[in-house]
Amino acid sequence: MTLAFQLARSTPRNAEAIGVPVFTEGAVPRALGLSRAALASVGFEGKVGQTSVVPSNDGTTMIAVGVGAPGEISVTSLRKSAAALARAAEKKSSVATSLGDLPGVDARSAGQAIAEGMRLALYRFNELRSHKSEPSLASVSLVADPSRHKGLETGAARGLAIAEGVCLSRNLSNRPPSHLSARQMAEIAVEVAAASGLEVEVWESDRLESERCNGILSVNAGSVEPPALIKLTYTPRNPTASVALVGKGVMFDSGGLSLKPSDGMKDMKMDMSGAAAVLGAMSILKVTKPKVQVTGYLCCTDNMPGGSAMRVSDVITYRNGTTVEVLNTDAEGRLVMADGLILAAESQADAIIDISTLTGALLVALGNKVAGALGNSPALVGQILAASARADEPMWELPLVPEYRKMLDSEVADIKNIGGPFAGTITAGLFLQEFVDKRPWVHLDIAGKERTDADEDWKVKGATGFGVRTFVEFLDTFKPV
Ligand code: BES
Ligand code: MN
Ligand code: ZN
Repeated sequence: MTLAFQLARSTPRNAEAIGVPVFTEGAVPRALGLSRAALASVGFEGKVGQTSVVPSNDGTTMIAVGVGAPGEISVTSLRKSAAALARAAEKKSSVATSLGDLPGVDARSAGQAIAEGMRLALYRFNELRSHKSEPSLASVSLVADPSRHKGLETGAARGLAIAEGVCLSRNLSNRPPSHLSARQMAEIAVEVAAASGLEVEVWESDRLESERCNGILSVNAGSVEPPALIKLTYTPRNPTASVALVGKGVMFDSGGLSLKPSDGMKDMKMDMSGAAAVLGAMSILKVTKPKVQVTGYLCCTDNMPGGSAMRVSDVITYRNGTTVEVLNTDAEGRLVMADGLILAAESQADAIIDISTLTGALLVALGNKVAGALGNSPALVGQILAASARADEPMWELPLVPEYRKMLDSEVADIKNIGGPFAGTITAGLFLQEFVDKRPWVHLDIAGKERTDADEDWKVKGATGFGVRTFVEFLDTFKPV
């Protein structure tokens, strides 16, 4: 779909729908022609996320859009209000709204939040359907005081571009493994790179062997599909620093020989969502133009139990010499990520951020709305958490408890790939830490955040594209630590 934003001094006559912001207190705008009591009688109180369609005789649909309490408007509340308006107006072709003219948020941030909220709520995954039913909404007029027009315009353009990056990431995560192998992921990355001014390199099996990327190769051993390590680079003029983003790209996680039960496997087509978040974020950098060089490493393979599969008790020797005893082939994410982290550390990046659907334990600890952030630099963790708050992609720091490192001690190798029964997210983080060579690093465990069971705010049932917007915000403001 395409969504276009225009600016207007007053409500255009031809708008099919008009989204009228309504606070939880104070007067209801006269344009609605309704009292607060009348709105309350249909359950509309003006809360963020609420909408109420008001029938009219003249063919224009009025939609009351809840914006919350006066004085409590934020980019997060605006993004949600805009998403709710988009859903309520999705069958109309055009909508006008003054959501961008509310007090409390600068025009540029408001334009960005509104465009993100509307575009993301209108996302549908229709690639594999014979009958594609798409929302009709194509045009949004932002009605505002002309002094805000410039900011709203640049903000909306930025928000729309960012939302497209999120939609790319959602499309990839929603695709089943029958339609997205590691090789296909690489083909898409090459196309995205060409369209987005990125350098791209794809390492297939031969190159992975000569470079001794033995984590990806070991996890891939039981699959008929070849693996791919995809390296993408964005280089601005005179970069101020360099950031590496490493994404888990397990195209399908069956568990390998440590096979998952069917129920645990059904969502594992999305085990490449970390890699998709990196690609989605990097696809937009030509628009958001951060001043830092960004290198993405997408570690892509499926995890299958074929006859040549990696066995329980096998030992992997990594490119940096570290030996790893594999005691559960379902703890494969850390094995493929180790290769990406070693390469990122070798590149002397000023910061390394990895993003992975890594542990079920993270879902147990933080549920399906909050990601885990673990790192060796409090200042860098702080920058990530601040970016995640602006993006409304909630994250919470978990500690890398040094005393737990001994849970990874192996009888035969330097380290084993599973810890004990407790603190599974932390021991996975401690495992990854072995490969970053003490460089500033944050590990994001997004298990469970890559998908949602229900439409909610700007999220649509299915893949969420979690992480893309945090990365864009983070890269825009990154300061070396
Ligand atoms: N991809 C899974 C983690 C996961 C679980 C992501 C649920 C999203 C939702 C990962 O590869 C995995 O299987 N982890 C194991 C690790 C264990 C064997 C140490 C897990 O969490 O059970
Ligand atoms: Mn697994
Ligand atoms: Zn996995």
